[in-house]
Amino acid sequence: MTALDHGLGLGPVMVAAGCGGTGRELASYCGPGGLDGLDFVTRSITLDPRAGGPGPRIEEVPGGLVNAVGLPNPGLEHFLATELPWLVRAGVRVIVSIAGATMGEYADLARRLSRAPGVAGLEVNVGAPDDAGAGLFEVREPYHSASVISAVRREFPVDRPVLAKLRPDVSRIVEGARSCHEAGASAVVVGNAVPAAFRDGRSGGLSGPAVAPVALRCVAEVARVLPELPVIGCGGVHDLRSANAYLDAGATGVQVGTALLHDPTTVARLRVALAPHTSPNEETR
Ligand SMILES: Cc1cc2nc3c(=O)[nH]c(=O)nc-3n(C[C@H](O)[C@H](O)[C@H](O)COP(=O)(O)O)c2cc1C
Repeated sequence: MTALDHGLGLGPVMVAAGCGGTGRELASYCGPGGLDGLDFVTRSITLDPRAGGPGPRIEEVPGGLVNAVGLPNPGLEHFLATELPWLVRAGVRVIVSIAGATMGEYADLARRLSRAPGVAGLEVNVGAPDDAGAGLFEVREPYHSASVISAVRREFPVDRPVLAKLRPDVSRIVEGARSCHEAGASAVVVGNAVPAAFRDGRSGGLSGPAVAPVALRCVAEVARVLPELPVIGCGGVHDLRSANAYLDAGATGVQVGTALLHDPTTVARLRVALAPHTSPNEETR
């Protein structure tokens, strides 16, 4: 396996969950081809609709932002009827992020999404910065995430990838990644927003360039100990240099999140920069 080839049928640059809206918001920033061929991870979809948390949901801090959006989404039925068909028509490779309150919910989501046309893969959100506060299945130990991955894998076709998205926890990351791999994850996405607080003390998650060194350390450790497992780096990617740091550490791809809120063209530019035959040192801006 070479860098940029994770053998998942996905490209090296993806939109991170929750940061590309429904896809429509990004379309006008992606050049003449629009979203065609884009690897797009949806916001996390739950069985029932979620309104999200109270405002303010986002606070800018040096090097990033703290958010507590609370996974707002229209629920599976509405997603299947409206957002998914639109993304498929736009030519997007859709990876649906799923989140549940119980293992049964994760399994149910996987079963129903396995039958929906146009779902290229699943990303299982088992690393939200505040699972308990968000009303999600609480993942405290590696075997918790492994149980969720097994439940999902049983319901989703083996020829389509299931990505396990893990919080960048420097003390347990290798254990967490190994458990998910053994449970059937095709790859791990390392990491997510890092548990943090707003200035008023409310819980949230820190994202953006400030978290990159944390996620980078996790990626490097997982790639070193589990070289057979594709690792997708996520946290603070905003230009070619920050993407290459993950690839140099052993990641097979990257996801772009917060940077899209500052500059929605980031993902389109990185796709060009990391396409085969592009000089790896070419800066994107
Ligand atoms: C506004 C916002 C919404 C997010 N929504 C989700 C989500 O629905 N599901 C999820 O797994 N991660 C979600 N995330 C986390 C991102 O996908 C990403 O893992 C994290 O922000 C770190 O990457 P970044 O520094 O590039 O943003 C969200 C992040 C932000 C800032």
